[in-house]
Amino acid sequence: MARVFSGVQPTGDIHIGNYLGALKQFVELQDQHECFFCVVDLHALTVPQDPVELKKKVIQLAGLYLAVGLDPSKVTIFVQSYVPAHSELAWLLECMTYFGELSRMTQFKDKSRGKENVSVGLFTYPDLMAADILLYDTNYVPVGADQKQHLELTRDIAQRFNNRYGETFVVPEPLIGKIGARIMSLTNPTKKMSKSEEDEMGRISLLDTPDKVKKKIMRAVTDSENRIYFDPENKPGLSNLISLMSVQTGQSVDEVVAQYEGKGYGALKKDLVEVTVNTLKGIQDRYYALSEEEIRVVLSEGAQRAGVIAEKTLRRVQEKMGLR
Ligand code: TYM
Repeated sequence: MARVFSGVQPTGDIHIGNYLGALKQFVELQDQHECFFCVVDLHALTVPQDPVELKKKVIQLAGLYLAVGLDPSKVTIFVQSYVPAHSELAWLLECMTYFGELSRMTQFKDKSRGKENVSVGLFTYPDLMAADILLYDTNYVPVGADQKQHLELTRDIAQRFNNRYGETFVVPEPLIGKIGARIMSLTNPTKKMSKSEEDEMGRISLLDTPDKVKKKIMRAVTDSENRIYFDPENKPGLSNLISLMSVQTGQSVDEVVAQYEGKGYGALKKDLVEVTVNTLKGIQDRYYALSEEEIRVVLSEGAQRAGVIAEKTLRRVQEKMGLR
């Protein structure tokens, strides 16, 4: 059976972009593969976090994993920092990665631009991510389009290691959906929807109330042409709404366009509110029925299962490198 690994940072508001780009794929994969889904709390530390808030966010994200439909009897759900092998392998991989490679990462460039004090962790972030993936002999990594470059680096590091020390790592492949892999901000549709953007009007959080969803979608930035067609470059706002409709309903983009042709943006927005509220309702009903205790049990069992596999891989790598 093929292995699947992915992770989400427990920061900000987990939004519909995270869901449609990543979490929804996780659920679809759980019946076909052996899956590991991680709450990557160590990655969150690359920028300052409030410790009390971080603890809450870890439990919240694990709860959302369950609420979107991941079944802990089929998949392993765990917290990155509970499995020390992640940090240990990250160091070993840092020693296999070139400064120039990390300098070229667009996420690092975006997040560090204009900032005076940027942590070294933000720079080496992709090595920790590579460690996450490579520890589980992962075949497939379902992610949104923004993670593609990190996946390419992971593949390069794995291949470099295998060339230097002999076959050690499985070289993973990204799974990036065609539509939904890059959901844009509702207020600034040339930028991706982001958990941490200050203006929350740009994102639909998975825990937003129906009223909030309505307000955000009805106010979403479009253009003044009022003609419906899909053109992400020239009509990013409208095209984003069409994508949101398409991924949630399972209709193709052409079908959505055909349905609203001649009807104007208002009709599309109104229906999108209904569809989105519906998507979130299922998730929220399950989320609010969970207890913290239940979530903690899942995480502790998950860490145990993940830990056994991760430790084995780490030993294998250490031996190859002459450490044991
Ligand atoms: P993170 O926490 O930023 O995002 C979690 C997942 O959501 C996807 N995503 C989006 N998809 C569509 N539209 C958007 N606007 C959007 N924003 C985010 C992301 O691509 C991601 O799949 N580095 C990762 C976490 C990570 C990881 C890993 C992922 C750490 N280790 C190992 C895979 C494998 C991150 O910051 O994701």
